[in-house]
Amino acid sequence: MRILFTGGSGKAGRHVIPVLLAQGHRVLNVDLAPLDLPGVDNRIADITDAGQMFDVMASYAGFDELDPGTGMPRFDAVVHFAAVPRILLKSDNECFRVNTLGTYNVIDAAVKFGLRKIIFASSETTYGVCFADGTRKPDYLPMDEGHPTEPEDSYAMSKVVNEVTARAFQRRSGADIYGLRINNVIEPHEYARDFPAYVANPGLRRRNIFAYIDARDLGQMVGRCLQTDGLGYQIFNVANDDHSVDRSTADLITEYYADVPVRSEMGPRETFYSNAKAKRLLGFAPQHDWRTELAKA
Ligand SMILES: NC(=O)c1ccc[n+]([C@@H]2O[C@H](COP(=O)([O-])OP(=O)(O)OC[C@H]3O[C@@H](n4cnc5c(N)ncnc54)[C@H](O)[C@@H]3O)[C@@H](O)[C@H]2O)c1
Repeated sequence: MRILFTGGSGKAGRHVIPVLLAQGHRVLNVDLAPLDLPGVDNRIADITDAGQMFDVMASYAGFDELDPGTGMPRFDAVVHFAAVPRILLKSDNECFRVNTLGTYNVIDAAVKFGLRKIIFASSETTYGVCFADGTRKPDYLPMDEGHPTEPEDSYAMSKVVNEVTARAFQRRSGADIYGLRINNVIEPHEYARDFPAYVANPGLRRRNIFAYIDARDLGQMVGRCLQTDGLGYQIFNVANDDHSVDRSTADLITEYYADVPVRSEMGPRETFYSNAKAKRLLGFAPQHDWRTELAKA
């Protein structure tokens, strides 16, 4: 497929794009900074500028696309990751503005150019636990996509708004639009750097409900979304199969979630951030786990 990828120079995108290239896709990365990676084309553009988003949606990816003389090829899909990726980076209102307006512009341009597959980055923070003032617990475990999204911060608010925006565009266009409620993204080098501290102090992972997603497995997830057509509007939690700490599910429940209803029997290390829907509808099958990665380091 010919894919327009926004925000591909960032933490997640720079691991997802190589997965898509290896699958044979062509990728144009649209970002404020280029991604220096062989095989990827770059365009500097701002998602908050509607004109620039309409322009890139109708753009040659590289000089080679001039050669056939058959005009501009069309994009088959958009993967939209560009964002201010958390609170406390920019002012709250700027985070909200960039994320909501940017997402509107990207999806608006994509559906008006007739694209039939749009994948966008939402976030675990929509559930309200991650950036709560004080301690907030899930309403129930495992936390699935049906859990209420009731955040109290501007970043998570922007992601909830983006889900509403995406749903409305899907309704009118009939395109497949899949939102990924991504858990905390872990790059390969971060296992050795960060996980010893998580083993020593599991409480560090409470705000992520002890879950994580390997950046390469996130790449697999995006690939599966590109392959799987006809699901309309969907939201998927994206996480690895296990907890990010060296404690059993039962231990974590006793220590942190004794008063939280547990709705189904859980495996001894099973993530509280349910990835069952992604497995069922997309065949998602995470390949990396922190124990193996730490042992390799
Ligand atoms: N990193 C995580 O743990 C995590 C978890 C859940 C969801 N997400 C979401 O996944 C996506 C990628 O996150 P990330 O960690 O790679 O973030 P990142 O900040 O590392 O990358 C985001 C990219 O978007 C680009 N960008 C920002 N504003 C832009 C604009 N106005 N126009 C064009 N490009 C712009 C940045 O230059 C950057 O390269 C984001 O939507 C984020 O909210 C990330």
